[in-house]
Amino acid sequence: MNDLKRRTFFKLGLVGAAMSFIKPSKAAELIEKSTENKFRIARKTIVISTWNHGLAANAEAWKEIDSNGTSLDAVEKGVMVTEADLTNRSVGVGGRPDRDGHVTLDACIMDHKSRCGAVGCLEGIAHPISVAREVMDSTKHVMLVGEGAREFALDYGHGKAKMPIKEVKKDWKKWKKENKDVFKKPEINHENHDTIGMLALDAHGNLSGACTTSGWAYKLHGRVGDSPIIGAGLFVDNEIGAACATGLGEAVIRIAGSHTVVELMRQGHHPQQACEMAVERIIRKHEDLTGLQVGFLALDKYGNHGAYSVYEGFNFALKTVRKEEMVDAGFDRKW
Ligand code: GLY
Repeated sequence: MNDLKRRTFFKLGLVGAAMSFIKPSKAAELIEKSTENKFRIARKTIVISTWNHGLAANAEAWKEIDSNGTSLDAVEKGVMVTEADLTNRSVGVGGRPDRDGHVTLDACIMDHKSRCGAVGCLEGIAHPISVAREVMDSTKHVMLVGEGAREFALDYGHGKAKMPIKEVKKDWKKWKKENKDVFKKPEINHENHDTIGMLALDAHGNLSGACTTSGWAYKLHGRVGDSPIIGAGLFVDNEIGAACATGLGEAVIRIAGSHTVVELMRQGHHPQQACEMAVERIIRKHEDLTGLQVGFLALDKYGNHGAYSVYEGFNFALKTVRKEEMVDAGFDRKW
């Protein structure tokens, strides 16, 4: 064991021993104090999630983290807040429909044991993230889609929801009138953002992630984006770190975005650098970047985080023992 490793081992040993005698919230604080200004020395509890809607979601997730719960429960309960928010037009029950008026939901979840579950193109169910978790917990599969996913959700008692909600239906009817050309390209809505992706590290040192969306507003019926695809919208490897993506799912899928970010961390890059390198790869792979916004969030197993996007405007919510704030991500270019 070299000197640095020995010192680190000793420090972690002391923290671990101290933690068994104190309250979980104090334990989280102790871990965080022990990591101040150190990269890859000790871990800290943290929850990060995409966009402004992440603040409320993080607050819910933190209840789990702070009571010594699991990062898996934290991310599921956290993003459920956003799925239930009727004012949110890009996630869950208040989401916008596809071109034909169907709200089709995509979600996935992954834990520290690399267990994962996903649903794609799910209709009429209030919490796609919980159905994704059910797929993970109760089946041998990873992903269910469409009618099969809906039947599965109902069989397992997941609550129905009527979608689109009234206001959203009105907007869709207006859009349909104004967009008679069926091949007209729908545009990612930057004002309403898209997708909540959440990553959490708990006091047990375990990482989990969740990702859920109603996808690209007015998309072709049947379109599935990156959000339910393990490795694209979300990836977790407890030995290394976790990453999630937001923005134009097609571009994220092309580079297996979240997996790429985690693999870059595996190569020794800081989460910030890993996000920047993944965004650079997206830029290299696309001749036309018009309207192509993608943002990545990353968290390593020590609690270091990073975020970066193609265009200005991506932000994320951060929650630690001491902080609860929105942070503007770095970006490659202005709109
Ligand atoms: N990132 C969400 C989507 O493209 O559906």
